[in-house]
Amino acid sequence: MKNKAGRELDEEIDFALLTDGLEAEREQKITIDVAYLHFYTEKRHFLIADVPGHEQYTANMVTGASNSNLAMILVDVRKGMRIQSKRHLFILSLLGVKHVLIAVNKMDEVDYSKEMFEKVRSEFLAYSEKLEISDLQFIPISALKGDMLVKRGENMPWYNGRTLLDYLDNVEVSTDRNLIDLRLPVQMVLRPNQDFRGYCGRIESGGLKKGDKVIAVPSMKDTQVKQIFIGEEEEEFAKAAESVLVTLEDEIDLSRGDVIARKNNLPYFSDRFTANVCWMNENALKIKKEYLIKCGTRTVRGHIDSLVHKINIDTLHREKGESLNVNEVAKVKMRFLEPVIFDLFKKNRSTGSFVIIDEFTNDTVGAGVILGLQNYKKKEELKLKKGGVLWFTGLSGSGKSYIADKVYDALNELGVKSERLDGDIMREVVSSDLGFSKEDRQKNLDRAAYIANLLAKNGVLVLASFISPYKEQRERIKSRVKDYIEVFIDTPIEICEERDVKGLYKKARAGEIENFTGISHPYENPEYPEVKVDCREENEDESVEKIINYLKENGFLL
Ligand code: ADX
Repeated sequence: MKNKAGRELDEEIDFALLTDGLEAEREQKITIDVAYLHFYTEKRHFLIADVPGHEQYTANMVTGASNSNLAMILVDVRKGMRIQSKRHLFILSLLGVKHVLIAVNKMDEVDYSKEMFEKVRSEFLAYSEKLEISDLQFIPISALKGDMLVKRGENMPWYNGRTLLDYLDNVEVSTDRNLIDLRLPVQMVLRPNQDFRGYCGRIESGGLKKGDKVIAVPSMKDTQVKQIFIGEEEEEFAKAAESVLVTLEDEIDLSRGDVIARKNNLPYFSDRFTANVCWMNENALKIKKEYLIKCGTRTVRGHIDSLVHKINIDTLHREKGESLNVNEVAKVKMRFLEPVIFDLFKKNRSTGSFVIIDEFTNDTVGAGVILGLQNYKKKEELKLKKGGVLWFTGLSGSGKSYIADKVYDALNELGVKSERLDGDIMREVVSSDLGFSKEDRQKNLDRAAYIANLLAKNGVLVLASFISPYKEQRERIKSRVKDYIEVFIDTPIEICEERDVKGLYKKARAGEIENFTGISHPYENPEYPEVKVDCREENEDESVEKIINYLKENGFLL
């Protein structure tokens, strides 16, 4: 084996470096990021993404695995399959890594025992039976002594499979790439002068040649390929994984984030899909919270509508859940503020996956693969005529945000966009300096009213949910925002306390929270709200309908 400079390398040392060496480095916490390293054999060039195995580095692992042809999991034969091995296998299958090699290491420590190797192998096979990994291989090795790395060694005559290097050199990966469905997401439109317009991007799948008929998604305008450039060179063809600049015969509606495809083979264009999501952030996933979702070259706002089920990585069973913690995986329903262009993951790995970004911290908080479409029927189409503020007031746990979310969804179904402004989020990101005294609530609500008004006067329909307990404070909000519509969520305290969704009532009763609305702080019922919602008299659909009818009858919706 040679390194890049062509120098002969000591085989043993090099592989030890690949395996145990890096592990030792990690134990000293030197590398926590994905470390990429190159190595060359006569036959192939390898780019290795070295990712730490520990649970806390799941995000690194997802990053490393999502682009890989092959994953090698290094297992200590003495320890066998551990929960983190399960996590790795599961994520690899989720991310569609086609080839997984389990290198059963430290064979020298167990006297090269065939039984020990077989034991580990059967543990892995039993678990992976329920996963989709098309090629799973096992090789017994000793990274320290060199057995089965490059040379077979003398110690494992019972093993007649390939050595590690032989396997890596020969595993068939060229057919793994989707060379059929043309997907060229446009990353940039180049327009140096009036006569030239070029579209740059990386061909994610399929191929392209001069003269091909193509179609732009979503404008659905068709034309033909005029020229293809790869780097400086003009080419006749280009294929998956190549970055190209193309020019087209006609000037068509095609901009950044759009996709070039073929008429009889189109990606999906929709504002919703179902997906498997792996959560990678310490802050748990919040249902309905808005995130940025990067899908292809588009980054759009969207949220997780609901969890279909969580997946227990240990048992692979489905479980119920309301939120996702770090390292957990669930099947979810996703919704976007505008349609995205995508494929199903099983058909196209690159256009069928996405990442979730927290817009405040800019962290990648989750990653997912698209499983299917969500069918829906549009009932009527409505138009928003003017902005305004639906101000949901009521006790903690009365269901303000819950009803506001339902209204938001219902409006979305009707083709009307709105914006949510929620007490909990407001207090996290804007009013984190404030408590719950009357004065602090006033400040919090002044800020909320200011934001709501900015939006409303610019034509946005705002759904604001705040306890806003004082009549006088609500009057002040009313005088400050354009088109204030008071929605009183009239849930009696007994019900709120019994629900105790956030466990705050219990704490307040125990004296652990001061100034708690309804217990140690007043709530003044609105006398003349525009809409009153009472869960004892109506179900949530009726409440939503009532609010939407109010908007229709008062000139907000047409
Ligand atoms: S408001 O009074 O200023 O309108 P806001 O709606 O922003 O309140 O925040 C209320 C949320 O803060 C509640 O949903 C609850 O989760 C949390 N909270 C924490 N402490 C208190 C408290 N003492 N009183 C009321 N809510 C509290």
